[in-house]
Amino acid sequence: MTDTLTLRRPDDWHLHLRDGAMLQAVLPYTAAHFARAIIMPNLVPPVVTGAQAVAYRDRILAALPQEAQFEPLMTLYLTEETDPDDVAQAHASGLIKAVKLYPAGATTNSASGVSHFDKVRPTLEKMAEIGLPLCVHGEVTDHDIDIFDREAVFIDRVLDPIRKATPELRVIMEHITTKDAVDYARAQNDRLGATITTHHLVINRNHILAGGIKPHYYCLPVAKREEHRLALRDAATSGETRFFLGTDSAPHTDANKLLPCGCAGCFTAPNTMSILAEVFEQDGKLNALEGFTSLNGPAFYGLDANSDTLTLTKGDAVRYPGHIDSAEGPVTVFDPGYDLHWRVT
Ligand code: NCD
Ligand code: ZN
Repeated sequence: MTDTLTLRRPDDWHLHLRDGAMLQAVLPYTAAHFARAIIMPNLVPPVVTGAQAVAYRDRILAALPQEAQFEPLMTLYLTEETDPDDVAQAHASGLIKAVKLYPAGATTNSASGVSHFDKVRPTLEKMAEIGLPLCVHGEVTDHDIDIFDREAVFIDRVLDPIRKATPELRVIMEHITTKDAVDYARAQNDRLGATITTHHLVINRNHILAGGIKPHYYCLPVAKREEHRLALRDAATSGETRFFLGTDSAPHTDANKLLPCGCAGCFTAPNTMSILAEVFEQDGKLNALEGFTSLNGPAFYGLDANSDTLTLTKGDAVRYPGHIDSAEGPVTVFDPGYDLHWRVT
């Protein structure tokens, strides 16, 4: 029986670090395990310009624990006013590794996102030309589309047309949640990648809604039926290089989660590696874990895999905090609902 697992050090290709006191509280958990992360730009106000991304990167670096080895990979938040030349400059300087597309109103702090996709065409064309990838939150926001169908409809109505109009553009389908997205990704060329979160490998929509409402399992895109979770498990553990880890760890204080209209987001940074090892082992695919967490993402982004390693060992149930403290209040850590046995050593 395998009880020690050494991987190239993992990266997180979709992470919310927030700002200020929350950044201070959550960053050490990611930096303890991950070498790099794609930092989501949905602050208030959002990180829209190269100058704002420089300032945000500096705040992240200043919040890092002394001994931490962690590189934030910055992104810009695409708006209808984005200046393609500012984007190109931020890319040329090495500052940003991607641009993030939020359909306006799709999720937390997405009010400045895109409503008219033709308005961002010049930026998308510039990105295709310079080889800068687009990270896509793939949900339509139409009120007449059922929330459980919003990802599949987005693929047909928005994503596929963008891909056809700009075939050279490299696109990452972020935090996919459906079999439809898995099937679509598998049918595409290598300019299309897809991230999968930790929590969508663990929960389906029953976890949120059956036996009482569980706000800590509510995130966007919302978890779907069991058949979709199984499709995600199959994709993540398949070894196919287009699928890689983006935790979408998205901290909100308990006060903001436990409201009549609570925030979307699961906070998985502290226990993600333990959960993933458990999940991959359950599926008899521990040998595919390194590809998912440490190799496929860098390859898609055109970066080297990390040269250092992370070791997990298997033993008694892992103890991790039920919540972490921040100066804004406690933040509940995602509970997979079963014991975890792999600890980062
Ligand atoms: C994210 C957040 O809180 O910023 N929430 C979430 O449920 N995933 C935004 C996002 O990635 O959709
Ligand atoms: Zn996110």
